[in-house]
Amino acid sequence: MKLLMGALILGLVSCGSRNVKNGLSQEEAFPSTFTAIRNRIIVPKCAVCHEQMLSHKELLKDYVKAGSPENSGFFTEVEGGGMPLYSDKLLDEEVEAIRLWIAKGAPLD
Ligand code: HEC
Repeated sequence: MKLLMGALILGLVSCGSRNVKNGLSQEEAFPSTFTAIRNRIIVPKCAVCHEQMLSHKELLKDYVKAGSPENSGFFTEVEGGGMPLYSDKLLDEEVEAIRLWIAKGAPLD
């Protein structure tokens, strides 16, 4: 029984990562690149209050610890739903794109 539950959970988890939305993969649903994150998250949802986030350099200086999403306010704030302030929490694929981008070193891509 335990084994079955494990297999079921594993199945759900791996399915979740492949089928983010409408059967799309994470990278299809939301690419983990600075360009996508800037144009589709920062510009419409953050820059009105955080203009400095439009600059890759400023973003890394103040909000991102490259390689470590858990230590990056840019990730922890959106994961916890604290940001964007006064707005809905970001979509799961948006949060995941931010996490992946920071985890791979937050490149300017
Ligand atoms: C309506 C204005 C507003 C919007 C939109 C907004 N923020 Fe903020 N944000 C603030 C204010 C004000 C603070 C500082 C107050 C605080 O630290 O709680 C802040 C603080 C932060 C911090 C630093 C928290 C800390 O620990 O000091 C991060 C990271 C952050 N915002 C990320 C984001 C991201 C990412 C977005 C877009 C998804 C976003 N914010 C959208 C107003 C906003």
